[in-house]
Amino acid sequence: MNHRNLGSTGISVSEMGMGCMPLSITGRPSEEQAMATIHAALDAGITFFDTADCYCLDTADMGHNERILAKALRGNASVVVATKGGLIRPEGRWEADGRPERLREACEASLLALEQDHIFLYQFHRPDPLVPFADSIQALADLQKEGKIVHIGLSNVTVAELEEALAIVPIVSVQNRLNVFDRSSLDVLKRSEELGISFLPYSPLNGMSQAGKIGEHDVLSGIADEHGVTPQQVALAWLLQLSPVIIPIPGASRSESIINSAGASDLTLSTIELEQLNVIS
Ligand SMILES: NC(=O)c1ccc[n+]([C@@H]2O[C@H](COP(=O)([O-])OP(=O)(O)OC[C@H]3O[C@@H](n4cnc5c(N)ncnc54)[C@H](OP(=O)(O)O)[C@@H]3O)[C@@H](O)[C@H]2O)c1
Repeated sequence: MNHRNLGSTGISVSEMGMGCMPLSITGRPSEEQAMATIHAALDAGITFFDTADCYCLDTADMGHNERILAKALRGNASVVVATKGGLIRPEGRWEADGRPERLREACEASLLALEQDHIFLYQFHRPDPLVPFADSIQALADLQKEGKIVHIGLSNVTVAELEEALAIVPIVSVQNRLNVFDRSSLDVLKRSEELGISFLPYSPLNGMSQAGKIGEHDVLSGIADEHGVTPQQVALAWLLQLSPVIIPIPGASRSESIINSAGASDLTLSTIELEQLNVIS
C-alpha cells in the first residue's frame, strides 16, 4: 500500500482509505461482519477511515458508525479517523443542520462516540442553505481553538465555498463526489491541488447501488481484463492517477470488497487507458 500526505497535516495515510457508511445505514451488516470488514481493511494496509455522526438509521441511532469504528480500532493508535458533522437524520431523512450550536453539540457527541479527547480531522458535511456558510465554518474554527478538533475539512462544496472557508480558517481536505462517471467536481479538485489540500472522492465506485455494476461498462471491463483485475480496481486506480492529492474512500460492508479496493494501489494504468477513462460517460 502506498501512502499520501493528508493535506498540510504533516501526516501521511494509506493512499486508499475506507468509507464506513455502508456499515451503518439501511441494509447494514451485523456488527460482527462490520468489525471483520474494518479489520480486513487494516490488514490490507488501510490507515485512513472516513465516518460521520449521521451514518446511522435515524436520530436515535446517531453515532452508530463512529461507535463501531471506535470499537474496531481500540488500541490502534496508528490510524486516522475523519468524521463529519452538519447533517441530521429525523425519521431517517438526511437533512442539513449547520447552526453553530448544533455543530458544537455534534462534535461533543462524536468525541464520545469515537472515544477520543480530540478529533484529528473534522469535516463540515454539507453547507446548510438556512445558515450562513461563514457561521458554520467559524463554529469549527472555534472548536479547533478549543482543541476539540485538530484539522478541518469540507464536504460537498464549490470552489467559491472553499475560498470563503479558507478566508476564515485553514482547510486540509475536501470531500466531494468524484468518480469515472461523475467528473463534476474537477474544478474543486484542481483548486485543491493548487492549494495542497487533500481531495477525498466519495462514491468513488459511483455509489453503493451502482458499485457492483460498473463492470457493465465496456471500457472499464476491457481494461480490467487486460490487467487481470476488477473493474472497481480500474476505477480506483484512475482516481489515484488523476491527482497526487486524491485519497479515495471506497465504501464497503464486506471484507472482500475492501481487500479488492486496497489492491488498486498496486495497479498502474497506461496513458492510453487513462485517456479512454477520461472521456467515458
Ligand atoms: N460526504 C458525503 O456527502 C458523502 C456521501 C456519500 C458517501 N460518502 C463517503 O464516501 C464513502 C464511499 O461512498 P459510497 O459508499 O457512497 O459509494 P462507493 O464507495 O462508490 O460504493 C460502495 C459500495 O461499493 C462496493 N464495493 C467497494 N469496493 C468494491 C470492490 N472492490 N468490488 C466490488 N464492490 C465494491 C461495496 O459493496 P459491499 O457493501 O458489498 O462491500 C459498497 O457497498 C462512504 O462510505 C462515505 O464514507 C460521503
